[in-house]
Amino acid sequence: MKEELKNLVEMATEEAKSIKTENDYLNIKSKYLGKKSKLSEYMSSLKDMTVEDKKKYGPLFNKIKNDLEALFTNYYENAINGEEKITFDPTIPADEKNGSLHPVTIVAKEITDILKNIGFMVLEGPEMESDYYNFVALNVPKNHPARDMQDTYWLDNGALLRTHTSPVQARAMEKYGAPIKMCVPGRVFRNEDLDASHENTFFQLEGMVIDKNISISNVIYVMKGMLREVFKQDVEVRLRPGFFPFVEPGFELDCSCTICNGKGCPTCKNSGWIELCPCGMVHPEVLKMSGVDPEEYTGFAFGLGLTRMAMMKYKISDIRGFNSGDLRFLDQFNVR
Ligand code: DAH
Repeated sequence: MKEELKNLVEMATEEAKSIKTENDYLNIKSKYLGKKSKLSEYMSSLKDMTVEDKKKYGPLFNKIKNDLEALFTNYYENAINGEEKITFDPTIPADEKNGSLHPVTIVAKEITDILKNIGFMVLEGPEMESDYYNFVALNVPKNHPARDMQDTYWLDNGALLRTHTSPVQARAMEKYGAPIKMCVPGRVFRNEDLDASHENTFFQLEGMVIDKNISISNVIYVMKGMLREVFKQDVEVRLRPGFFPFVEPGFELDCSCTICNGKGCPTCKNSGWIELCPCGMVHPEVLKMSGVDPEEYTGFAFGLGLTRMAMMKYKISDIRGFNSGDLRFLDQFNVR
């Protein structure tokens, strides 16, 4: 009898491993524990046993019954839980960790929204640009020394990677004429050595207004208002004369370094100021070349350093994080 019971338990234990579905579970239960099972037969034979055997086998049968039942249930539960894990349930909410906008995208949107509110069009231009639009139309003819101001990536096809967003000034004037108010956020390229504040690929935001009676006070007003909106506070700014062939007069608009609060750090090259936005009055030659009469119209333009602006706003001290694709950097700007 003992040998038979041992075999029974071994067989049941082996078979329990193949429980995958509810059907398997019910079948194996009925086979080993049901009314017609071997174990039931043994149990009903108890009544014909001697008192001594009854005492010996009664508890043993019960224990086997309980153990097998627990074993089958256990295998069954594991099987269905495992199944649940690989079941595709489209109603489960998506993973918490969504992507976020790039800091430059956030700042670009903020500024273009501000400018749109005061009537600026938002335009785009090609990143692969012609010599004409990148230089000639901006009053930088071939062999002009001002070409050396921007280290250019020249392409095999004679075109170049635009070194600034200013070429869109000429494209916009050709297309829309005057008066015009437009801005252009975009990526630009320069053959620069990389350090904490220089990248070879960065972002600018060009702005231009051409109308009657425009003066430099208009550009100062627009720039100050915009900086106040972006930084949610009055940021200190200063104007210095600056030279750019496509504006006359030209200026450099600097803002106090928000990383060191003007005390001096590697990002501002210890000066306490960040060159943020060169600007000026559009050169009459530039107007003329794009078909706008400089006798009738004047205009201002600015070329905001968008990447710098994002560094100031988010107190990012090293420009190299922007293009790194490093999620530890990008995850900090959890805005969608
Ligand atoms: N395009 C110039 C640069 O990248 C910046 C610039 C200067 C843009 C003066 C302007 C401007 O619109 O008026 O260096």
